[in-house]
Amino acid sequence: MDVRFAGDPAVREQVLTELLYPVRDTVLDKAKLRPGDTVLDVGAGDGLIAFGALERLGPSGHVIFSDISRTCLITAARPPPRKGCSTGAASSWPRPIR
Ligand SMILES: C[S@@+](CC[C@H](N)C(=O)[O-])C[C@H]1O[C@@H](n2cnc3c(N)ncnc32)[C@H](O)[C@@H]1O
Repeated sequence: MDVRFAGDPAVREQVLTELLYPVRDTVLDKAKLRPGDTVLDVGAGDGLIAFGALERLGPSGHVIFSDISRTCLITAARPPPRKGCSTGAASSWPRPIR
């Protein structure tokens, strides 16, 4: 993350605000999430979409962060534990996904 934004928190915030958050919001608007839904984000990366989904779903929702990169999953799962947040391979999730 720091490398991506030249290690400058101001650049990171600018890119997030002007570029990435609008994309995230469009994706999540189209997903038409409902309270209590479970979202599987395959290729969750550092969680741009997944954390946004977690916020929208509220306490009854659940988001599974799936990524081939263990580093990304460690970032998503790092303490403090986030309620409604799981990590794992997409193929290992047994529940039906809408
Ligand atoms: C461009 S990033 C997107 C991250 C995130 N979805 C976002 O919107 O910011 C693509 C992610 O897909 C992951 N990825 C690539 N191939 C994958 C695979 N076969 N299974 C799961 N994740 C994969 C990469 O590790 C990377 O974190």
